[in-house]
Amino acid sequence: MTFKRHTVTAALPYANGPVHIGHLAGCYLPADIYVRYLRQKKEDVIFICGSDEHGVPITIKAKKEGITPQQVVDKYHKMMGDAFREFGISFDIYSRTSSKTHHQTASDFFKTLYDKKVFDEIITEQYFDEKANQFLADRYIVGTCPKCGNPDAYGDQCEKCGSTLSPNELIEPRSTLSGEKPVLRKTKNWFLPLDKIQPKIEAYIESHKNDWKPNVYGQCKSWLNQGLQPRAMTRDLDWGVKVPIEGAEGKVLYVWFDAPIGYISATKEYFEQKGEAAKWEQYWKNKETRLIHFIGKDNIVFHCIIFPAMLMEHGDFIWADNVPANEFLNLEGDKISTSRNWAVWLHEYLQEFHDKQDELRFVLTSIAPETKDSDFSWKDYQARVNNELVAILGNFVNRVMVLSHKYFKGKIPQGKLDTALLEKFEKTHQLVSQSIEHFQFREALFEAMNLARAGNLYLQENEPWKLINTDKEKTSEVIYNSLVLTLHLAYLFEPFMPFTSERILKMLNIKEPLVLKNLNHTLSAGHQLGEAILLFSKVEDDVIQAQINKLQASKKVENTTINSENTALKADITYDDFIKMDIRIGTILEAERVPKTDKLLKLLIDTGIDKRTVVSGIAEYYKPEEIIGQKVSILANLAPRKIKGIESKGMILMAENADGTLSFVAPTNTEINNGSVVR
Ligand code: 2FM
Ligand code: ZN
Repeated sequence: MTFKRHTVTAALPYANGPVHIGHLAGCYLPADIYVRYLRQKKEDVIFICGSDEHGVPITIKAKKEGITPQQVVDKYHKMMGDAFREFGISFDIYSRTSSKTHHQTASDFFKTLYDKKVFDEIITEQYFDEKANQFLADRYIVGTCPKCGNPDAYGDQCEKCGSTLSPNELIEPRSTLSGEKPVLRKTKNWFLPLDKIQPKIEAYIESHKNDWKPNVYGQCKSWLNQGLQPRAMTRDLDWGVKVPIEGAEGKVLYVWFDAPIGYISATKEYFEQKGEAAKWEQYWKNKETRLIHFIGKDNIVFHCIIFPAMLMEHGDFIWADNVPANEFLNLEGDKISTSRNWAVWLHEYLQEFHDKQDELRFVLTSIAPETKDSDFSWKDYQARVNNELVAILGNFVNRVMVLSHKYFKGKIPQGKLDTALLEKFEKTHQLVSQSIEHFQFREALFEAMNLARAGNLYLQENEPWKLINTDKEKTSEVIYNSLVLTLHLAYLFEPFMPFTSERILKMLNIKEPLVLKNLNHTLSAGHQLGEAILLFSKVEDDVIQAQINKLQASKKVENTTINSENTALKADITYDDFIKMDIRIGTILEAERVPKTDKLLKLLIDTGIDKRTVVSGIAEYYKPEEIIGQKVSILANLAPRKIKGIESKGMILMAENADGTLSFVAPTNTEINNGSVVR
């Protein structure tokens, strides 16, 4: 099917933190490359994005920082918008879901589904904090993980063992708002009956079996195979788009209901701003429009199943024709993590690598996680910039420019297009186009770089610096062809490295936008060239080392914070809870390593009441022979446990430092008797 126009969206990032390289590589760069390519072909395209400003994490961040959610999103909306702009991500509009148009659009959308009786109204029991007088989102509930015993697991996930949880699985749940035990209370919410819509979704996904990326199709199939379940589209929360029906006071739309509608709202705003308010409909309702969502893999279910289900039930809109989701980008072998500050933040890169946006765009596209997770490392960044951008592309363009100025006073010399080169141009354009159209941006970039390689080879073979002494006409031919090749490079690299392309055009002194058809005619003899400037400079070792050190430093901070998180005050207990613990002073009589373990020592303790065996995880810090005679505090009435086949009765209390080192909790008076009670 041929399309008349394109609506290209890039996932609306949550406005609760800055943007990092993972976002760029996973979603925004490929989307930008694709859109720039379409624009080069003079296709009718709009490129839509904005900030996703609702959802619980934003309210949590606001509470933590003592500011309002609106203040949180205002800060990050600006920061993200600026970073995208500076990296040349060429959205036609970067909007936000707190906008009035969005609230209206999302609200109307919900109302339409409600009026069509699409939703199931379901009453469920949710945790409610009586002191704070509000229902608790999963993240607002903590308790003991039923799987690993972590006392601070969240209602949706235990961050210690990684298990996905639901709040009612938590042992002794407590509200993070008041610290109180929440109570279960009945509440009504509106559910999208995905189970009933499943057959339509199945047909839709099946129709894209051959044109969607295997990772995307595969993930959809796996959701469908498990059987879709109704999903609540409203939440008991006060931050978001109000549910526009009676009886829904104090509820807002589920963030994943309103966020994708944000694409539609932003399109409306874009055309309103252009004074063509009605035109948005063509981009969302006309079947000749091709809708494409660029996202990361964690968003697949929302864009391929839930949003299409919403659109299907609504009835007025087109559905995505493709959803080229990427996998994840790791950093120096580790998962990128905002909370652990394990990331390369775009705003920091911009400050530290002035005018080097294209270097990052180039490296991230070269390693884009298109089919599987990939890894960014600073050493690899350095190697790719130095060995490819500097040594191949930069070197070629620079040589051509310098030679043109030196031999032809900066004017384009006479020449005829070399047929072998012409063939190469055509082939490269074809390969790059094909790859981009298949969302294979790495491959496309590789092919473009191959043309720069061919340029270097062409210079090497013809040696104009020697030829000039014997054959000026042939030299003129070689330089002319090299300049044409340079022009092709400016065109081919534009989607990937727009700033570089602009610099090349400046050197060539070409002001009008390039059109593929005209490339060979754009350069005519006698045309005055601009000054030769260096496109790229070598990245030195110390610059890279500084970045590596910075990351290492954030790892150290992370260890300290994790440990200090452990020291965060736990929920109140009563004196009765406390006196249940029988803590005594004892002395270590014997100590030996537990075979085949690194951490465990088997201790014999004189507790004053008995002599008993306790297995303790202190072997990394103490040698058995060092601790004989050591006074310790022991929790004596801990139920016996078998550890590595040894029955351990009680637990030795240890103090843990921020860096993880352990030391005994012992009385200052070493004469104190074994069996003395600690209270
Ligand atoms: O994963 C995220 O960052 C989401 N905020 C993406 C939303 S995409 C769309 F639905 F708006
Ligand atoms: Zn756990």
